[in-house]
Amino acid sequence: RLLLRGRMLTFSAEPQSPDDTTAFDYIEDGALLIENGLILRRGSYCEVVAGAGDAEIIDHRPKLLMAGFIDTHIHFPQVQIVASWGAQLLDWLNTYTFPEETRFADEGHAAAMACRFFDLLTDHGTTTAVAYCSVHKASAEAYFEEAEQRNMRMIGGKVLMDRNAPDGLRDTPQSGYDDTKDLIAKWHGRGRASYAITPRFAITSTPEQMEMAGALVAEHSDCFVQTHLSENRNEIAYTLELYPEARDYLDVYQHYGLLSDKMLLGHSIHLEQREIDALAETGARPVFCPTSNLFLGSGLFDDAGLRSKGIVNAIATDIGAGTSYSMLQTLNEGYKILQLQDQKLHPFRAFHWITRGNAVALGLEDRIGTLDEGTEADIVVLDSRATEAMALRMERASTLAEELFVLQMLGDDRAIDEVYVAGKPQKGKAPAVPQPAPA
Ligand code: GUN
Ligand code: FE
Repeated sequence: RLLLRGRMLTFSAEPQSPDDTTAFDYIEDGALLIENGLILRRGSYCEVVAGAGDAEIIDHRPKLLMAGFIDTHIHFPQVQIVASWGAQLLDWLNTYTFPEETRFADEGHAAAMACRFFDLLTDHGTTTAVAYCSVHKASAEAYFEEAEQRNMRMIGGKVLMDRNAPDGLRDTPQSGYDDTKDLIAKWHGRGRASYAITPRFAITSTPEQMEMAGALVAEHSDCFVQTHLSENRNEIAYTLELYPEARDYLDVYQHYGLLSDKMLLGHSIHLEQREIDALAETGARPVFCPTSNLFLGSGLFDDAGLRSKGIVNAIATDIGAGTSYSMLQTLNEGYKILQLQDQKLHPFRAFHWITRGNAVALGLEDRIGTLDEGTEADIVVLDSRATEAMALRMERASTLAEELFVLQMLGDDRAIDEVYVAGKPQKGKAPAVPQPAPA
């Protein structure tokens, strides 16, 4: 048993306005009692310590405890092409991304990269991610093996891609189906792992492969589904050439039965009205990828427009087109993209988004994304004075909202003081203090 003491913030709903204090619970001197990887109790330190028995106490005051961050769209085989110069989407894929992903046919390479990828995630406070692996079964094996070693709640899948990609980076409708079936049988629901059926995007799958993807989704309705949608104008035009029957880009996926509330659609920037209506009807989740959308010059995600239709938006890094592993930096760039459209991202909603909000988008809010009793003990400890620039700004900050906004705009991995995955500290920064003698 472990008792974490610190300032504590957790959300119970999406804040509807900057003064919506009913959406969160903030405790100045709070504590969490953790046992068997779960949060057993949450409350004020006094309350929780009284029933904590001989639990080891770790005092994180004055730092801020929050649920671990969730990254809903990231590419595991792109760790070594982050920051590749000059291209927009289709050229970027052909010039940098596809050649790089061919290297993941090698099991040893995939395993070595998985280890470093997971180190990066935890260093940045991300305790759950939804990842694209490469087309190779071995890359998904390496990903899930590493996640299991660390007991992390991770979602992922090998990409299905059978055309418009170089040799060594294509499967076939049958082999993609078979490999996906094998991976689902082995990994889906094992420990904390879940599988995401992953047709990369319409351009790299033949209609035959889309048909097979539809069969996989029908046979495994409890798996996640992920792909890319309407990221770039040239991508959309080429997609409609390849699928002349489709009413619009989303209709390609809709036609093959891929849409549901288990589906994550990366980017979803340039949408037609019919597509927006179909997203609202099916519950499919657009994923906002701010640093990527700026880096590739893709466009501005219309968060408020989609939300006004009742659509649930997720938010993510999209490494390696994204330029930071940090969900804090993702919020920073997200804030600016929304500013360009006269939309606001208040820090309460921002921190809800990267924790409980993304958990809701995944249908996992009963397990992760909050500090609620009974949920899994994935926790970040945030230091809002981690850098001189932050400390200086904090001298003039007097409210919780201001502090959160400093973290949102200036924070990165340096602001992540500690990370707990299923109750286990990953950095070991805070010293344990002995249990005080009972009064
Ligand atoms: N569309 C298809 N594949 C990719 C990818 O790897 N990254 C991004 N940003 N968009 C894509
Ligand atoms: Fe992507």
